Amino acid sequence: MTAEIIDGKGFADGLTARVATQVAALKARDGITPGLAVVLVGADPASQVYVRIKSKQATGAGMVTHDHKLPATASKADVLTLVDRLNRDEKVDGILVQFPLPAQIDMREVIERIDPGKDVDGFHPMNAGLLRTGGTGLVPCTPLGCLMLLRHFHKDLAGAEAVVLGRSTIVGRPMAALLLGADCTVTIAHSKTRDLPAVIRRADIVVAAVGRPEMVRGAWIKPGATVIDVGINRVPATEPGKTKLVGDVCFAEAVETAGRITPVPGGVGPMTVACLLQNTLSAACRRRGLTVPGAS
Ligand code: GUN
Repeated sequence: MTAEIIDGKGFADGLTARVATQVAALKARDGITPGLAVVLVGADPASQVYVRIKSKQATGAGMVTHDHKLPATASKADVLTLVDRLNRDEKVDGILVQFPLPAQIDMREVIERIDPGKDVDGFHPMNAGLLRTGGTGLVPCTPLGCLMLLRHFHKDLAGAEAVVLGRSTIVGRPMAALLLGADCTVTIAHSKTRDLPAVIRRADIVVAAVGRPEMVRGAWIKPGATVIDVGINRVPATEPGKTKLVGDVCFAEAVETAGRITPVPGGVGPMTVACLLQNTLSAACRRRGLTVPGAS
C-alpha cells in the first residue's frame, strides 16, 4: 500500500484565500486593516527566506506589513526597545520576531516582552498557559497548522494514539496540548525515550519535530498511520555541491507503510505561514473586541 500524500500547500492556499476574504470583510465592516510587524535580527539565510515569505503572504492577503531589520550586532536593548514601540503602535496587530536570534539576545526575554494580544507566534507564557488550560489565546502557527491537517485528513481524532516526537516549546509541547484538546491519547517522545521505534509503532498519528534528517524509519510506522513531518533539514544532494530539503521522516520508506503522509517541502511549511495570517487576523479582531467576519 502506498500512502496518500497530504497536499499541505493546496490546503494552505485555501486557508490563505479564506483569510484574505475575511480581511476584506473586516476592512469593509469596521475600516480596519490588520498590521503585521516582522522583525529579523542578523542575516541568517534561512530566516531571511522565511521572513520574506511571511511578509509577502501577509501583503497578498490584504494586510499591512511593517518590516524591521536589525544588524547581527544589535543589543538586547535594541530589540526590546523595538518590541516596546511595536507594542504601543496601534497600526500593529501582530508582532513576529524571527528565531533564532544572535547569541547575545535572550529569546525568552524577547518573547516575554511582546504584548500577549499581539503575540501571533503564540510563544508568550500567557498564550502557552491559555493553551494548556483550555483558554482562548493565540496558538503557535506550526502545531496549529498540523492540527488543521489532522482534522481534515485523519478525521476521527478522539481516542487516537498520537506520538509527538520532540519537546520544543515552538512545536512539540503545544502540539501535544492541541492533540490532547482534540481527545487523542498523547505521548511526547524525545532524545531520552527508551525504544523509540516501539513507541512510534503504537501510534495512529505521528508528528515528527526533532530536526534530525530522516531519523524516523519506515519500519517504525504502524500500517495505515497518519504521519505529519515538521522537519525541514538541508542535506547534501546526490549531485556534487547541491543540497536538498528532507524531513525528520524517511519519506521514501514511510510512504510504503503510512496511510497518509506530509511531504517535505510542500507539507507543513506552507500551513505555518497560513496560520500566521489567521493569527494576525484573530489578533486584530480580539484586541478590539470584534468577531472575525465570516468565521464559522
Ligand atoms: N523560527 C523557526 N520557526 C519559527 C516560528 O514559527 N516563528 C518564529 N518567530 N521563528 C521561527
